[in-house]
Amino acid sequence: MAAVFHPSINRRDFVKGGLAAIGAVVTLGGCASLGGRQSRKGPAATRWALLSDTHIPEDVDNNYRGFYPYRNLEKIVPEVIANAPDAAAITGDLARLAGKPGDYANLKKLLTPLAEQTPVFMALGNHDDRGNFQKTFDKLPGEKQSVSGKCVLVANAPPVRVIVLDSLFYVNKVPGLLGRAQRRWLAGYLKTSDNTPTILCFHHTLGDGDGDLLDLPRLYEIVAPVRKVKAIVYGHSHEYGFSKYKGIHLINLPATGYNFNDAEPVGWVEAKLRATGGDFILHATAGNTEQNGSEKHLTWRA
Ligand SMILES: [Fe+2]
Repeated sequence: MAAVFHPSINRRDFVKGGLAAIGAVVTLGGCASLGGRQSRKGPAATRWALLSDTHIPEDVDNNYRGFYPYRNLEKIVPEVIANAPDAAAITGDLARLAGKPGDYANLKKLLTPLAEQTPVFMALGNHDDRGNFQKTFDKLPGEKQSVSGKCVLVANAPPVRVIVLDSLFYVNKVPGLLGRAQRRWLAGYLKTSDNTPTILCFHHTLGDGDGDLLDLPRLYEIVAPVRKVKAIVYGHSHEYGFSKYKGIHLINLPATGYNFNDAEPVGWVEAKLRATGGDFILHATAGNTEQNGSEKHLTWRA
């Protein structure tokens, strides 16, 4: 079956791949325009649905801490479709534990209705298997980059650019690593690309523990001086939160699959991304729903 992705060539100009991926091209009346108000200079904002840690199992009844990841995503996908974002991104741990083909088959089944409306960008996490993922999702949206052993995508989504990196190190082992080849690619890309405000997305957390992104200091060395890098969006912790490093906003997405403690929401985040900042609205569908609908407004560093 063809992979998930972008059905309409007119809807956004940031998806160069993936058109051949879907069996039937779907024409979306009235959807040719971008999200947000447009001017002659281009759109003022792009609206994204941000998800993480879907943990989709092969067995739809698989559950953890009372959460059913399959059912959670099954519930969330129509919400996201109703929200009509310009694109969606999932920051890894797509699969339940070890990235089995059956996990991805179910993920594809769940995402297809969304992918028929908008491109779905996916990063790989420690519970993913790159080979199995790529066999199931054989056409990916955006501009696929040539980085040895990694799956890297660029989405030119005016007025911002989103770079999806790959921090999968070992399947089903907690730590993450971008690795030398990917870091070199990123440094080179940031040097040669234009000054469009840039947002990085990947799976692993930005701490200094054994289970975090192991080459985070090297990543920070690359991105801290590059002023167009405005934010990093990631998952892994199954916690929702905002912090900063040298003016770069660090946005930790909640999981859609399950939380690790009762204080955390389960759900997704609606993002309105502008050239100067972003607005983030929490859609808490399970877990702690007290902050459902809460908004966070960020201003990018200059
Ligand atoms: Fe996870």
